Amino acid sequence: MEILDEMKKEFTAQFGEQNTRAFFSPGRVNLIGEHTDYNGGHVFPCAITLGTYALVADRDDNETRMYSMNMPKAGVLSFPMSGLTYDKNYGWANYPMGVIRMFEDAGYKAAHGFDILIYGTLPNGAGLSSSASIEVLMSVILNNTFGFGLDMVEMVKLSQAAENKFVGVNCGIMDQFAVGMGKKDCAILLDCNTLEYRYSKIVLDDCSIVITNTNKKHSLGASAYNERRSQCESALEQLQAVKPIKALGELTDEEFDAIADTIKDPVVRRRAHHAVYENQRTLEAVRALENNDVAKFGKLMNASHVSLRDDYEVTGKELDTLASLAWQQEGVIGSRMTGAGFGGSTVSIVRNDALAAFQKNVGEAYTKEIGYAPSFYIASISDGTHEIKD
Ligand code: GLA
Repeated sequence: MEILDEMKKEFTAQFGEQNTRAFFSPGRVNLIGEHTDYNGGHVFPCAITLGTYALVADRDDNETRMYSMNMPKAGVLSFPMSGLTYDKNYGWANYPMGVIRMFEDAGYKAAHGFDILIYGTLPNGAGLSSSASIEVLMSVILNNTFGFGLDMVEMVKLSQAAENKFVGVNCGIMDQFAVGMGKKDCAILLDCNTLEYRYSKIVLDDCSIVITNTNKKHSLGASAYNERRSQCESALEQLQAVKPIKALGELTDEEFDAIADTIKDPVVRRRAHHAVYENQRTLEAVRALENNDVAKFGKLMNASHVSLRDDYEVTGKELDTLASLAWQQEGVIGSRMTGAGFGGSTVSIVRNDALAAFQKNVGEAYTKEIGYAPSFYIASISDGTHEIKD
């Protein structure tokens, strides 16, 4: 594998000649079900073949040294395998450091450190979960090396805990789950309330999944994400005064409409409206896809974007421009923002015979409107995080 050969050369340059093991962890694209995970709703993401590779060698001592080929300026970062705390000087390495700390706190203590070389093929800040990718990667390295015997869902939870407690981003479980539990050619229908899930084969016949990156830099740590969460929590509390529910995801559209007036602030009401309707829309979309009704799935993707734009207000000019340009193109079945929003990417289902025109037309019109170009990726659906054995 060409990537691994390049990495091996760089590994030797950074750490000297050693026996290494190789790992891969995907990114993810969410097809529908946005900002529903922390509201106890459903999501429908898939892991993608863009992701993060690692070459790993054991060390005799308790130190770990990490180097990312994507961040050469950061150089080799060294840290001990116990008692780690967040340190902004360590930048990207806080994600694996957080995982090591969460494992330690859960009683899974590393017996020694590693030399690790990282190479990521995910564009940074594209909303494709580069951070979850590296978190679950570190989890699998620890689990496989030390034989902790954790199953993937347990590792997914520890990876999310690293993001929540160590890095300080209050994200839901979708990203780590999609990255860890991904399956080739399938999306995952996950009930974030119960963590029940099932795989759904993605058969798009003559269509492809296209990811379009706005190339606007976004930060998931943005206060807007946490603000949306607390608005939904406030809506839930107010609804609980009239109905015994544990999460917004338990409500049907009709049940919500009947009690929506209980929520005083109209902005908070719209946030909850999105969470409830998006969850039901996700279930409907999966049913449509499983009945081979790709056209209906596409219409529901479009409706998801409109709701994220008008009710949840997490799109912004770049994502709205990409989505509305996509909607105008021949051969586009559906298009919406994916991930947290505020920048990042859209996901579109596009007929294969229209792919070239789609990229040309959307690319040119977006550049004219926004002042810089978007990037396009045709997504292939990958397995979850694993050790690469040859
Ligand atoms: C980010 C978070 C996820 C989820 C999405 C929005 O990707 O990490 O937990 O909330 O935003 O659907």
